Amino acid sequence: MSDNIYLPQLARVAFIKDEVVGERAIKTFRVEAADGGDLFEHECGQCAMLSIFGRGESMISIASSPLIKEYKQFSIMRVGRVSSAFHDLAVGDVIGIRGPYGNDFPIDDWRGKNLYFIGGGCGLAPIWPLITTAVAQRADFKNITVFYGGRTSRDIMYRAELEKLRESVDVHLSIDKAEEGWEGYCGFVPAAVMDKDPVPDNSVAITCGPPIMIKYVIENLNKLGFADEQIYTTIENKMKCGLGKCGRCNVGKDYVCVKGPVYSWAVLKNLPEEY
Ligand SMILES: Cc1cc2nc3c(=O)[nH]c(=O)nc-3n(C[C@H](O)[C@H](O)[C@H](O)COP(=O)(O)OP(=O)(O)OC[C@H]3O[C@@H](n4cnc5c(N)ncnc54)[C@H](O)[C@@H]3O)c2cc1C
Ligand code: FES
Repeated sequence: MSDNIYLPQLARVAFIKDEVVGERAIKTFRVEAADGGDLFEHECGQCAMLSIFGRGESMISIASSPLIKEYKQFSIMRVGRVSSAFHDLAVGDVIGIRGPYGNDFPIDDWRGKNLYFIGGGCGLAPIWPLITTAVAQRADFKNITVFYGGRTSRDIMYRAELEKLRESVDVHLSIDKAEEGWEGYCGFVPAAVMDKDPVPDNSVAITCGPPIMIKYVIENLNKLGFADEQIYTTIENKMKCGLGKCGRCNVGKDYVCVKGPVYSWAVLKNLPEEY
């Protein structure tokens, strides 16, 4: 084994799904170790640096539960150069993977509590490992509630998985504007949360999505009585090395690739707004 910390392990693409199609296309990928062995272990909230040879490297949240050992899942939105290269992959292609990077959600501290997950757009992917791990360990938690919104019904990712989740937890889906046949909430995610009046007692809220959504979700949670220590989010500063060496991702003195990407609002609100 090489001691070069930048050297990726080879991984084979085993599964690709068109999660969302159109302008804000999202594809979900599952990768396995190309040599038939194991990929690294990870915790909920951590990410990995994925590389396509000759096209580039991107930090991507690991979107599968640590309980799943056979593969790692990633959901990638096509926005630019490297994400487009991921969208061009086919099953059987080999990519590079190194990680895991960053800190993780303190799930063990939350056993016995109510969990509120609040996601928007592609922001469901970073919290999906936490949701699915909590559901797999359902008896360890009190009420689990998932709020998730897309701009339109076509932007809802993990649709079938969310429907399945309804068997064990409360799931509230929303879209920004009314559409014929839509039975969920119509309006923005922060308003969808207020509509259901989450209770702060013995609860933790975890939110991830577009920065503007996170801002108003946190404001609303505070209004409902959630303390800053009860609110967690994960941030996506641009990253290059993932190792705390290049200085690309810093917020104040924090290298997000090491100290983040998971933050409680109590900590994040006191950092400079460089995220
Ligand atoms: C911790 C972490 C986790 C991430 N998890 C995911 C994930 O699960 N799925 C996913 O699709 N992406 C994720 N990203 C973003 C990803 O690393 C890339 O930044 C993104 O895929 C764009 O790369 P690109 O080369 O295609 O775009 P570029 O060619 O670099 O940029 C194209 C356009 O997108 C904008 N852009 C690039 N990156 C971001 C960003 N992070 N936030 C907002 N705008 C951006 C650029 O400003 C530019 O306008 C994550 C980033 C971090 C740091
Ligand atoms: S990405 Fe290089 S220091 Fe964080």
